[in-house]
Amino acid sequence: MKSLSRRQFIKRAAGTTAAAAIGFPTIIPSSALGKAGTVAPSNRITVATVGWGMQGPPNTDNFLNEKDCRVIAVCDIDEGPKQQAKNTIDEFYGNKDCKAYHDYKELFARKDLDAVMLAVPDHWHGVMSVAALKAGKDVYGEKPLAHSYEEQQAIVSAVKRYGRVWQMGSWQRSQRHFRIACEAVSSGAIGNVHTIEVGLPKDHDDFSGMAKQTKFTEPPKTFDYETWLGPAPYAPYCPARTHMNWRWIMDYGGGQLLDWIGHHLDIAHWGMGMDYMGPTEVEAEVNKWTYVDSGIYNSPLRYFVHTKYPNGVKIKLASNNYLKQGTKWIGDEGWIHVDRGGFEASDPKIFKKTKLNESALFNSPGHMRDFLDCIKTRGTTLCPAEVGHRSAAPGHLAYISMNLGRKIHFDPVKEEILNDPQAAKLMKAPAMRGNYSL
Ligand SMILES: NC(=O)c1ccc[n+]([C@@H]2O[C@H](COP(=O)([O-])OP(=O)(O)OC[C@H]3O[C@@H](n4cnc5c(N)ncnc54)[C@H](O)[C@@H]3O)[C@@H](O)[C@H]2O)c1
Repeated sequence: MKSLSRRQFIKRAAGTTAAAAIGFPTIIPSSALGKAGTVAPSNRITVATVGWGMQGPPNTDNFLNEKDCRVIAVCDIDEGPKQQAKNTIDEFYGNKDCKAYHDYKELFARKDLDAVMLAVPDHWHGVMSVAALKAGKDVYGEKPLAHSYEEQQAIVSAVKRYGRVWQMGSWQRSQRHFRIACEAVSSGAIGNVHTIEVGLPKDHDDFSGMAKQTKFTEPPKTFDYETWLGPAPYAPYCPARTHMNWRWIMDYGGGQLLDWIGHHLDIAHWGMGMDYMGPTEVEAEVNKWTYVDSGIYNSPLRYFVHTKYPNGVKIKLASNNYLKQGTKWIGDEGWIHVDRGGFEASDPKIFKKTKLNESALFNSPGHMRDFLDCIKTRGTTLCPAEVGHRSAAPGHLAYISMNLGRKIHFDPVKEEILNDPQAAKLMKAPAMRGNYSL
């Protein structure tokens, strides 16, 4: 509690009231009182992992390392990863107790389950997150918050409506050097910040090694491809379409822009105290790299997006061939740049000569740890759903601007596109297949 600012403390406490008000149980086990390491099984937070793939294992590992929680179940629709997930957890605990599910609805119906970690492709975020929240689960959800503006709003309102705790997978906030850079900016180390440059990766990485396998075939018998497609439009199976590389197909992901915006734009906002702010103008440049024809992948290879915020700050978002990867705040007295490798500044002495306001931002005990702490206190996490929504929203608006080839004027308070009904329609969730709905 020591490093919480008063504002954060009040906000966290407010979460407690919301949960209690709608009648969900508030877990305050003895471990919350500082007896970590001696947690009775009945007091442990029970969690389940949904989606193994690339991000499921590291997130699950972070749960396994916390003594006051227990991973009791996993869920995946591909038998291989599902079995691997179960084996990893059973091996860690030295038993066979972890239950493996194919159907997330069956899993969410478990009354003995407190929280879920969702690491599924973006086109599944909206439907699955709302279902988890409705079932009374606290959620560690992956970035970007969702696949469309409207699905993001649905998640934010479900978090409020059901009084749940949400932590975004924007884990850079829990890394010391990102916090120090943000604290320097918020302490005025570079004067008045007028521009922020956010550089994100370019092109299409081949994460699964199957990018070239675009020939349509029958899906493997052990893989439930129909459910993998879920709410997305039907498309014939090929290995290049699914695991890991789905993010380069706009029906399932949002290319590098939306894959990374929840990291570096999230940090840009945090350093500026702009967590709950949105742009008033968004304009994406359209050029020969915007619409690509590389087999089945159709997310832009390169992009440049100009945004303006109500406080006059301009944020530029671009692929790293145009802007250096990471977040660079530019003020009238210098600049600070931060990325995963570290931070630098226009004047190397800036971090020494500046008196950092070390209590300006929440000093995270670890991203998953913060989530678990907030489950107990019913407080607000370091990166709640609405903050994740604001981090990804400019990316969704950028795609609307890209698709229509014009600037978007936006009211960030009402969350409405102004004077452009055609653009406003594109904020809606894409039509969902079959019986899927939010
Ligand atoms: N925070 C980070 O640093 C970080 C890094 C990588 C990925 N991610 C995010 O994690 C999420 C997953 O990405 P990934 O790269 O791990 O994808 P992936 O394709 O590697 O893994 C997704 C897994 O989900 C399973 N799945 C799909 N639909 C399902 C359903 N309906 N029910 C149960 N399981 C289902 C798939 O079979 C697969 O095993 C994405 O939102 C991505 O943006 C975050």
